[in-house]
Order: sequence, then C-alpha cells, then structure tokens
Amino acid sequence: MNYQVGIIGIGRVGLPLGLSLTKNGVKTIGFDINEQVIELVNNKKMPFKETGYDELMTKINFTATSDMSKIKEVENIIITVGTPLLAHIETDLTQLNAVLTGIAPFIQKGHNLILRSTVAPKTTWYVHHFLELKTGFKIGSDIFLSFCPERIAEGKALEELETLPQIIGSNDLQSGKKAEAVFSNLAKKIFHTDYTSAELVKLFNNIYRYINFSISNQFAIIAENYHVNVYEILRMANHDYPRGQISSPGFTAGTCLRKDFGMINETNPYSDLLLNAWKVNEYIPRFLVEKLMLQTTIYGKTIGVLGYSFKNDTDDTRDSLVPKMIRYISREVPKKLMIHEPNITGKLDGLFENESLQDTLKESDVIFIALNHTAFKMNIAQIIADAKDDCWFVDYWNVSGTDKIIFNKKDFKK
Ligand SMILES: NC(=O)c1ccc[n+]([C@@H]2O[C@H](COP(=O)([O-])OP(=O)(O)OC[C@H]3O[C@@H](n4cnc5c(N)ncnc54)[C@H](O)[C@@H]3O)[C@@H](O)[C@H]2O)c1
Repeated sequence: MNYQVGIIGIGRVGLPLGLSLTKNGVKTIGFDINEQVIELVNNKKMPFKETGYDELMTKINFTATSDMSKIKEVENIIITVGTPLLAHIETDLTQLNAVLTGIAPFIQKGHNLILRSTVAPKTTWYVHHFLELKTGFKIGSDIFLSFCPERIAEGKALEELETLPQIIGSNDLQSGKKAEAVFSNLAKKIFHTDYTSAELVKLFNNIYRYINFSISNQFAIIAENYHVNVYEILRMANHDYPRGQISSPGFTAGTCLRKDFGMINETNPYSDLLLNAWKVNEYIPRFLVEKLMLQTTIYGKTIGVLGYSFKNDTDDTRDSLVPKMIRYISREVPKKLMIHEPNITGKLDGLFENESLQDTLKESDVIFIALNHTAFKMNIAQIIADAKDDCWFVDYWNVSGTDKIIFNKKDFKK
C-alpha cells in the first residue's frame, strides 16, 4: 500500500486531521470532490483559517486528489464529510451516501474504515450493513469498521488532536485494534466502546455545551424582564462559588452545536430539554433587535454589524446566528446596512460587502457588536471613540465591559 491513511472529505475536520497525522509520520492522502480545495492543498495553502496549519503545511508532504480509485492504495480510510441537519429534524446523509456509493467498488479485503463525521445514533450500523451488502465482505474478518468521533473545537485542532483522548466505537476486536493503530499516532489516551456509545459520546459533549449556553441566554432574558443586570448577577454568582460556573450569554451557533441536538431528536417525538435549549438559543437575535427597538428605531437608520462568522476569531460562517440577526434588522427597513468581519477577506457568503471597520463606525447610527472577536476586544475603546457621538451599541457579549446589552455612546463617556 502506498498510503497508511486516506481521508475522505478534507474540510475543517479532515484536513487538520490529515496534516496532523502526516506531521506525526503517518503517510496520508486526502480525497475530496471540491477541485478548488484540492488545488489549494496541493499548492500548500490552507483553504480556511485554522491556527498553526498554514506554517505546518509548507513543511510536510500532504497531497489531495479527487480520484477515488486511489482508495486501493490506502490501508485505512477515514470518512470526514459533512453531516448537516435538514430543516425537518433529520440528518442529511447525502455526502456520506455519496462517499459510500463511490468507494464501495474499490474496497478490498483488509481495508479498515473509520467513520469520523458526527452522526445520529445507529448511523454506524447503517454504514456497517451498507458496506457488507455492497462489497460482499464481512466486517470483523474481511474488512474493518469503527466510529471514532472528532471532538476538536475549530481553531484548536493542532493542539487538541494530540491532547484529547480518542474514542473508538467498534463491533469487533479486530476493527478496534486497527483504529487504535491509526489514532495512537496522535492520542495518548484511547477508550474502546461500541458504535452507538461512541456516537453518543460526541453528541453528549456538544449537546451539554449547547444546553449550558442556553441556560445563560435564558438567564439574560429573565434578568431583562426584571430590568436588572445579567452580567453583574453572573459575576457575583460565579465569584468564589465552588459549585459550577455559569457561562456568559452569547450567540450559540455553528454547524456542530446547532445541529447535534437534532440528531437525537430524530428519534424522539416529545418536547424535551434539548428542543427547548434550541428555542432559547435561536431566539437571541430576535431578542436583541426587539430590545434595541425599545430605545431607538432601526427604520431609516444606518446599521453597522461587527462580526459575521459563527464564533470568535474564525472565518467559518456556517450556521452563524449573525445572518439571522441581519434578516431581523432588515425587516425593520434600515436605510443602509454595513457589515464588517475582520476574519474574512472579500464578500460575506457572496451576499454582503465586507465593509471596512472605519467606514462602518463612521456611518452607523447603531452598531451591533455581534461577536467577541479578539480584534474587537483589543480595540474596543477605539471602536467606541470612532463611532458617531450619539451612536447606539448592542453588545450582548459585553465586549465593551459596560455591563449593558444596549447603551448609547454618550452614556459610555459618562
Ligand atoms: N467543523 C468542526 O469543528 C467539527 C468538529 C467536530 C466534528 N465535526 C463533524 O465533522 C464532519 C465534517 O465537518 P467539517 O466541518 O469538516 O465539514 P466541511 O464541509 O468543512 O468538510 C467536508 C468536506 O467533505 C467534502 N465532500 C463532500 N462530499 C464528498 C464526497 N462525496 N467525496 C469526497 N469529499 C466530499 C467537501 O467538499 C468538504 O471539503 C461533520 O459531520 C461535522 O459535524 C466538525
């Protein structure tokens, strides 16, 4: 075999994994259907922002191809394609199905397959049955299969791929051993379990965070109803208190957090905590627009939005709540909307101009600080100084440190 590992889907999960394996001496090749991504990778350029990988890429030998027949030259196949959630609370398996159908003719005896995309419980069993039927091989003796979830946070892949324990879900001893042989190149600690438990480890990790953030968002809504200050309350509640720290309120979004609750809700017809967390987190953009309108109007004004991606310091806009907030702002018919996102060069999702910070501050009557980007935190005094004298700010992340969700520049001066 020419390659120890082949990664199918060299996106935000697959590419860092491929590069980190290569860095650790594992001969790895990437597979993708996106020719632009392949060209960038083969020219040693990262297609997206991920700390530390721009430099690493220039130092190691990692290539990518769209030629699936090269699977024959690979010992271990790791699948890392996207698994979004359809609007109908159903995982969209289009990408995974395309991969399975595409590789089935090239699967040979001895191949070890590892599913790493986040999936709903029992999806690995689906892959198991699909592969056995389409290839005629038996899993556990002819070919091998595990589910090994990716639990890195975007922006921290380089560090976390080598520090997080790896979870290996398999249905037979040989598959588990083969997956361990791959991941022991990265992880110091490996846990073995079955397919479904491994699927749930990943979902529980994400859903736990999602619900926790929804609690903070619920607290912000409750505090506002009582006209008291949520930031001050949380500071006092957390200070030297030994039983659990409450997170700060904020936009809770992104392709992982926003969808993973739905993977469990696929098989649950009842209202539950997960669904309610979704409602609370999804309400926040509307909450901010409505709160602002208790102070001033949006109609006929110039509205500036600072930040567009799904979380701080990333260029990933998938499932960001900022576009949703922009849609609510637009429904109030502003004269002009200006958006500035420092982590992205050029147009935003092909929809909006990415305005300069200076122009946005100079022209806006209201500024939504939509994200807690480091670039905003570091320059907040200047941002406020450069805004119009009577500019309103919406600052849910408390980037300004004013402890106010809505404030006017005049009050800030005081
Ligand atoms: N982004 C994260 O931080 C993160 C963290 C943990 C887990 N996950 C999970 O990992 C999976 C991948 O997420 P991502 O963010 O890397 O997605 P992504 O969209 O960035 O990457 C998916 C890649 O797969 C490629 N692809 C699609 N269909 C293909 C096919 N038929 N053959 C070959 N390549 C194909 C796409 O072109 C793309 O480059 C998802 O299940 C996600 O939930 C993501």
